[in-house]
Amino acid sequence: MAVQPSAETAETYRTEAVPSADRWWRDAVIYQVYPRSFADGDGDGIGDLTGVRDRLPYLAELGVDALWFSPWYASPQADAGYDVADYRRIDPAFGTLEQAEALIAEAHALGLKIIVDVVPNHVSDRHAWFQEAVAAGPGAEARGLFWFRPGRGEDGELPPNDWQSVFGGPAWTRTANPDGTPGEWYLHLFAPEQPDLNWNNSKVREEHESVLRFWFDRGADGVRIDSATMPAKDPELPDFDPAAPPVPHPYIDRDDVHGIYRAWRALAEGYERPRALIGEVWLADPVRFAHYLRPDEMHSAFNFDYLNCPWDAADLRRVIDATLAAHASVGAPASWVLSNHDVTRHVTRYGRADTSFGLALRQHQVPTDLALGTRRARAALLLDLALPGGCYLYQGEELGLWEVEDIPDALRQDPIFHRTGGLDIGRDGCRVPLPWSGSRPPFGFSPEGAAAEPWLPQPAAWAAYTAQAQDGVPGSMLTFYRTALGLRRAEPGLRGDAFGWLDGHPAGVLAFARGDGFACLANLSGTAVPLPAGAEVVLASDPGFDPAAGRVPDDTTVWLRTR
Ligand code: GLC
Repeated sequence: MAVQPSAETAETYRTEAVPSADRWWRDAVIYQVYPRSFADGDGDGIGDLTGVRDRLPYLAELGVDALWFSPWYASPQADAGYDVADYRRIDPAFGTLEQAEALIAEAHALGLKIIVDVVPNHVSDRHAWFQEAVAAGPGAEARGLFWFRPGRGEDGELPPNDWQSVFGGPAWTRTANPDGTPGEWYLHLFAPEQPDLNWNNSKVREEHESVLRFWFDRGADGVRIDSATMPAKDPELPDFDPAAPPVPHPYIDRDDVHGIYRAWRALAEGYERPRALIGEVWLADPVRFAHYLRPDEMHSAFNFDYLNCPWDAADLRRVIDATLAAHASVGAPASWVLSNHDVTRHVTRYGRADTSFGLALRQHQVPTDLALGTRRARAALLLDLALPGGCYLYQGEELGLWEVEDIPDALRQDPIFHRTGGLDIGRDGCRVPLPWSGSRPPFGFSPEGAAAEPWLPQPAAWAAYTAQAQDGVPGSMLTFYRTALGLRRAEPGLRGDAFGWLDGHPAGVLAFARGDGFACLANLSGTAVPLPAGAEVVLASDPGFDPAAGRVPDDTTVWLRTR
């Protein structure tokens, strides 16, 4: 879709006013740490802050600029921490607030920035506010922080409207009155353990701003904003047909959601070193998407169009063009992302007949060719890292990990699996604890002799994919990531926004220049193509690449010095 520059064009966005070191997010590589699955320091089979602190040198050596932590707060873990009971405490399974503060300081000392997750749409049903609201009964002020409503039907036995939860099943759960009789219902767009907050209530706004300050004051360099399009609701809570939703939608991307982020931006800018706001904005319309990145809103948002895009040159080119145009219209940096804790790992996706990310593909037994997926994942990394803007990496992709699709159903933990009756196998397969060392599970994820097994089982084949097994090995995925990230940091051609397609290559080739001395060529044509004459190959994604052959094999990306 063509993108019209909005009123707030790049010209009005004077980023130059902010010192460049303080605009680090514009081209940063941000690595997502999923704390449950990163490294277990205390041997209970669940990752924790001690495990992360021990491995900060590994992350610094990898060459990333910042770490984004999925929620580490006190939580009953009904949705792996995205059900926050208390933002000012660390979940005991992960550690303590003192450890989080130490982690931030240690990361900073290694030159790594820290991003924490905030979840404005909902809290845990164990959050003090919700407990109080349920106990207080209908009509109480405490209920005004959430969406409590009487049911429909003769005895209120039917949900207040027909909205469905993102995780499957109705978006409403009935409560009991303080005297035990059936009471009002409350809205939860995700699991019943995640009641939605009412952002029309000023206390909700004040509390979140206080939470942001709490973490910014402790040195957090930014926040990742969960489900950022969803906090504002149509207060009438109307029924609607999800196949033909009304505009505006009753709860997705409503205009009044932007006021939340404007306030947050002002707060973030109030710090001497401005803090970054990074949004989880799943929206197909690039114009609506870009609204979240206007100069007085977020700094960056995950590019899910790119993540969803099939491994196909024409599709990728279309998405890259739409991305760059949408971001340029508001002066924001583009971002590139292939994996996270919610989607099928891209090594697996790229080995399938359908290489897009689609929920329909998250089922049992969709065949994949992991060797092909791995080859393409390497090519995709060099493509991403060469595009202007920031990149988000998900823990384990630097080891070439694939989606673990054969977890026994009895061990699956994701509420999506349970709430869809297994129709969607859920997200556990990308959350399997990382393999660090050794030849058998837990592969160094937990300390030697730990009593507990990792919270999800690791495949035996990961013996060859541990960080230890790949360390210093030419051609390994880990070596490749370290090399590519190091070159990206050092390469002046990869700074700034300069970008131009280089035409004249065979169909199925994506070739572009960054500045006048650096180029990237990704071959998705199905056959080898000529290496551009006179270009020096800086790095190739194919570990067996031979520049003397004068050809770039299929599913290979090369970085080129062109002068
Ligand atoms: C976001 C998170 C996801 C979580 C959901 C509800 O999409 O990334 O993991 O389940 O929000 O908080």
